[in-house]
Amino acid sequence: MLPGTSSLSRQTGGRKLARVVFDEQTIARRVTELGRDITAAYPDGELLVLGLLKGSFIFLSDLVRRIDRPLQVDFLVAASYGSDTISSGSVRLLYDPETELRGKHILLVEDIVDTGKTINRLVTLMRERDSKSLEICALLHKHVAERLVLEPRFVGFDAPRSFLVGYGLDHAENFRHLPYIASLS
Ligand code: IMP
Ligand code: MG
Repeated sequence: MLPGTSSLSRQTGGRKLARVVFDEQTIARRVTELGRDITAAYPDGELLVLGLLKGSFIFLSDLVRRIDRPLQVDFLVAASYGSDTISSGSVRLLYDPETELRGKHILLVEDIVDTGKTINRLVTLMRERDSKSLEICALLHKHVAERLVLEPRFVGFDAPRSFLVGYGLDHAENFRHLPYIASLS
């Protein structure tokens, strides 16, 4: 039994965790490195960190505390997946940031890049906004996307092809709160 999961399978339609893929310490170390890389990559200009909800909420909150320069935070809400573990292919924007994007460095923060449809759609939308620059920071990258209009400049980990949950990632809205990243059985 994995830590903190004693009653989880009962509450999650019988889906169980298979194994821990990235533990808390490993994630924390990598997030600190990403924060340093991002700090070094933006010597000047206004930086707006745009977290893609809901999956990036834990990663984003840890990451921005490791970036040592002035920045602003806002969110995007896009919906691409239903309750399934397979991409539906359509991506809808449910919330558009209210913060001004024009003239700023925009850093889009994603939990995981799978088919790339989410990124391709969002990058296309964001490119219409006259920002100073546009980059992506993804915690996880499955490297299965056939074509990405913009390759993430910052990547936490190369991910296995299995379905992952925890540290913000969900399966049918469950498991987001786990402090580690695990695969589903
Ligand atoms: P894409 O559009 O296929 O690249 O999928 C991106 C989105 O799908 C992510 O932001 C996640 O919300 C979700 N997703 C893709 N793979 C996984 C996974 O292994 N676990 C949980 N969510 C995933
Ligand atoms: Mg999701």
